[in-house]
Order: sequence, then structure tokens, then C-alpha cells
Amino acid sequence: MANPVDPSQEIFETKHFQTYRRFPLTLASGKGTRVYDVDGKEYLDALAGIAVNNVGHCHPKVVKAIQEQAATLIHVSNLYHNVPQSKLADLLTKVSGFDRVFFCNSGLEANEGAIKIARKVSEQNGKTGPIIYFSGCFHGRSITTITMGKEAFQKGFGPLPEGFQQLPYNDIDVLDQIGSDTRAIIVECIQGEGGVNLANAGFLKKIGEICKEKEIILIVDEIQTGMGRTGKMFAYEHFDLDPDIISLAKGLGSGVPIGAILAKEDIATKIVPGDHGSTFGGNPLACAAAFANLEVILEEELLLNCQKVGTYLKKGLTDLAKNYPFIKEVRGMGLMLGIVFEPECRPIAIRLMERGLLVSCTAMHVIRLVPPLILTQDEADSILAILKEILEEGV
Ligand SMILES: Cc1ncc(COP(=O)(O)O)c(C=O)c1O
Repeated sequence: MANPVDPSQEIFETKHFQTYRRFPLTLASGKGTRVYDVDGKEYLDALAGIAVNNVGHCHPKVVKAIQEQAATLIHVSNLYHNVPQSKLADLLTKVSGFDRVFFCNSGLEANEGAIKIARKVSEQNGKTGPIIYFSGCFHGRSITTITMGKEAFQKGFGPLPEGFQQLPYNDIDVLDQIGSDTRAIIVECIQGEGGVNLANAGFLKKIGEICKEKEIILIVDEIQTGMGRTGKMFAYEHFDLDPDIISLAKGLGSGVPIGAILAKEDIATKIVPGDHGSTFGGNPLACAAAFANLEVILEEELLLNCQKVGTYLKKGLTDLAKNYPFIKEVRGMGLMLGIVFEPECRPIAIRLMERGLLVSCTAMHVIRLVPPLILTQDEADSILAILKEILEEGV
């Protein structure tokens, strides 16, 4: 419904490309785990910009870093060094254990870059086979990344690039088909857009073994799962995996657009001047925000909080779900949780929004909860209470 003082929804209808199925809500400000609409109504944000605001909205340390950097230097070309970029590169490589980083502006860009690198390096190693991706995955909306995605997103956008092969997610036996000619494998440890689907530990272990044995480049897409979302800095650390490349974005910059490709030395050093680049990637403003964001994750021990509150919330949701046969499953890890409903869940997400709780509905049937990692146990209780109210009314 149009708000008399806020024309945003009407302007969206008439002036924007209709790419998004938006909720009828205009958000105006945020603080911590809360956001406020144009009328000042408060919402508990269990979506966090889709797993972006990991340290909460407008964290004072991040705000200060952005303000100071904005007043100092917003952008310079990558033809020059800049201090925030080098500080972030140093901290991110230390924290992750990867050797080198390339900065870009979004998740799809990180995956595009990872694919470019994997193609070049694997070709130098004499491999000409496909890059393997898995059913249910989501790696972005560029032509290359939709090629590694579901058919519905590809329709009308062909011809798509060659050299990609899909295998079923979590099918351990099918992995035996992977030949040594394979250039790379890209995988999400938990599929976010696909419906909060967890990979089986055995499935990921076997992928890791095959990659080692056949010298295949392993790319783990940590765009949604990274920066502490699952209770470890990166989701692959829960599993027996040793990726060559990971891609990051969402939780990296606290909402200031930034993505990153992290790679091991032997891969990264095959990329030479001219192979890849970006005008904005790694600019001082984005890097200052991401540096402060990463410091907050470390200083406030958000991985621990994520594990603690995530476990508490998952148990609460699982206990709650037992009372409602229309809930099929509660799944996820850390503060990346999914409630799988029998019916389609968008109407449920709208009703939750009306009661002051923001969530998304993904893969049609899964209410996804990806709140800021600063969520408290009391706030987890509030999520459970609002959800219970809605479930009691029926779906
Ligand atoms: C796992 C994963 N990879 C890639 C992307 C694409 O990121 P972006 O929207 O920043 O291009 C997303 C976004 O939802 C994602 O969840």
C-alpha cells in the first residue's frame, strides 16, 4: 500500500526495472539488529540485507571508519596503491590463511574472477574439461554465473558460455564420474539461495579428495556463508576441505559493496598484469569499511556469539516446529537457518514482517533467517515468540 509521505513504492512500480518482488515496506534507518521504516516502526532484522550486515546495522566503528575515509579519500585508481586496501589485504590474508587477494565489488564478480583464474591456471596445467557446479547452487546473475545456476534463471539469456557441467548436490556416488581433465569444481558448503541446504560432510570430503588426487582446482563460494555466518570465519572450515580459491562478498563490507577472491600462492601468481582488473574494486572507502567490519568480527568475538546464539535459536525453532505438521524441517548452521514449510512461505514472510520480524522466503518453501551475528539470546527468544504467534494462527 502506498505511503502518503513516501513515494518509494510508487516510484518502484513506475520507474524501476521490475527485477525484484519487493515487500511493501520502505526502510529508512537501522541500528544493530533493528531497522526502522519511514513511519518509524521498528523491525527485528533477521535477514540483515541477506546475510550482509553481519556486525549489525551502522556499527559505530564501521560508521566512523566510513566517515573518516569519506572525508580523506574515497576513490583512486588501481594504478596506485592505497592504504586501506593494503591494510585489508594484509588482515584478510592473515585471518584466512590464503596467500593473495583480488578485490572486486560483488559476489558475482568474485565468482566471475574465480572462474577466469581457474580457466587460465587449469589450461596451463593441460586441462580442457568442464568446470563442475552443483544443482541447487547460486553463484550470481552474470552470464557466466547463471550458466552455473538453475535453468529458470537462464531462460531467454542464451547463448551461454560453454565449459560447465552440473552434477547433483550431495550425490556422493556421482562424484566418481569426475575426470582428471576437469578444470575446477565450485561448491557452496551451505546453499543459501537454494534453500539453506547443507552439504553432507562425506560429499565435501570426497570432493576435496578428488581435487587433490586429480589436481583439480577447488573453489568454495563463501559469499553467503563467509565472514562468520556459520560460526566459523568460513563454512569450509567445518569440513574436511582445503580450497584453492574462495569467493567472498556479502558480509565483507558491512553493506558497502565489496567482494574478494582469495587464492593460494601457486594459483594467484599465474595471474599477470592485464589478466583481470576493476575500476572500483578495492577502493579506499570500501576497504576502510571492510577493515573495520573484520576488526569488529574479531574484537567482539562474533564467531562465538554466532555459534552460541545460532545453536540456541536452532534448538528453539526445532522444538517449536514439532507442534506444526506443516513445518517439514529446520536446518542450517550458526546463524544461517532455514525453516522448511509444506506450503509456499512468502505469505508467512509478509505476516512476520507485519509483526515486526524481517525474514526472506527462499526456494519458495524455506523461511531463511540470517540475522546479524550480534543477535542476543533475548532477541532469539523474540524471533521464536513472533514466529509462534503466526504459526498458532495457521498457515
Ligand atoms: C552463494 C552466493 N554466491 C554468489 C552470490 C551473488 O552475489 P551478488 O548478489 O553480490 O552478485 C550470492 C548472492 O546471493 C550468493 O548467495
